[in-house]
Amino acid sequence: MLLIKEIISNSEFETASFAKECITMFNSGSVIELIGDLGTGKTFFVKSFCNELGINNSSSPSFSIVNQYNGKKLIYHFDFYRIKKTEELLDIGFYDYINDETAITFIEWGNLFEEVLPGKRFVITFNTLDQEKRKITLYKNG
Ligand SMILES: Nc1ncnc2c1ncn2[C@@H]1O[C@H](COP(=O)(O)OP(=O)(O)O)[C@@H](O)[C@H]1O
Ligand SMILES: [Mg+2]
Repeated sequence: MLLIKEIISNSEFETASFAKECITMFNSGSVIELIGDLGTGKTFFVKSFCNELGINNSSSPSFSIVNQYNGKKLIYHFDFYRIKKTEELLDIGFYDYINDETAITFIEWGNLFEEVLPGKRFVITFNTLDQEKRKITLYKNG
């Protein structure tokens, strides 16, 4: 994996700024895997990215598995946290989503079922250092 950027975020505002910076890098067809424990800021990052595209109704898809938003760009937002086996993903047409070249796909907890992810993807890891302090690292794979 190629390291693109690592930041220490001291606030929600700084995480949102980083998400804004990623707008030019994540294009239609991009898949972004988000890795990190609960509460590290994966959903917050996606929400901030979506806000920048004029999408203000994004939310955690942990119960729905996938949410879809339509703003300046089409976004698919997955969360694998509650998935027990890959069949559940295949049943909802996971590959149709990630092969949709018109959409940007975010996948929280993608590391739980890495075998279904495309080799060519961005990976962002989130670590909590303190109450409001996060280490966020962006990589490019494949
Ligand atoms: N620097 C920061 N960056 C992002 N979120 C932060 C930061 N500091 C505190 N938080 C808080 O951490 C929580 C992250 O929650 P969430 O994005 O739902 O996490 P996850 O999706 O990883 O489980 C939010 O309540 C957010 O307000
Ligand atoms: Mg989340």
